[in-house]
Amino acid sequence: MEHTTETTLDPPKAQALNLKDNLTASIYTYEAYPLLLDSFNYLCTDPYLQEEKAFRQRRFSRCHVDPWEYTFHRSNNTFYQPTEMNVYSGGIQREFEFLDQVAQRFCQERVIPYLMEKLTLRYAEVGIHQIRILTSESDVGYPAPEGVHQDGTDYICTLCMGKQNIAGGNSIILKGTDVVANEQLDFGELLLFDDRSYRHYVSPIVPLLPGARIPRYVRLHYQPT
Ligand SMILES: [Fe+2]
Repeated sequence: MEHTTETTLDPPKAQALNLKDNLTASIYTYEAYPLLLDSFNYLCTDPYLQEEKAFRQRRFSRCHVDPWEYTFHRSNNTFYQPTEMNVYSGGIQREFEFLDQVAQRFCQERVIPYLMEKLTLRYAEVGIHQIRILTSESDVGYPAPEGVHQDGTDYICTLCMGKQNIAGGNSIILKGTDVVANEQLDFGELLLFDDRSYRHYVSPIVPLLPGARIPRYVRLHYQPT
């Protein structure tokens, strides 16, 4: 049975939307689950990092949702944020490789329908970031090198698809200067919040234990706009 923990959500489209939930059962029962996790092994190095070490890998796709169908865009794969919103990589059109078919299908069948229901939406333009953060004993991984920020969208959902031997990577949500959520998400856990009402950050990632296992943290990040 799917375990659900809601911190605040009433009514669904309230200004202060801030929901913690869990899609673990939905992911485990997904028929292409092994292929889905494997798709994180084929992400592309984020070409817009300023550091020498490539600590972030990413793919990005947009999907138009209406009551009749979901349409993944096959062009216009750029992601833009103004400099005021992102001092690290704002002010440029960032272009990424599309999600592969497996990741697209998983979003279409499991995650986007969940979000549409929670947000009571019938229409949406959804941006999907499939991301993996890497770290090592000599290199810190920065999920949000721009610092505390807003993305300039309506809602944000971040879903943890796995982690291995990491410390940090806490998803932090702020209302003004007050920290209202501070969670290192486990596999299948998600946070869904209103981007206009909250600011967010993800703390740096370092290896939990020294050793041979590759430390990593992966997530899907949805932005229905
Ligand atoms: Fe963000």
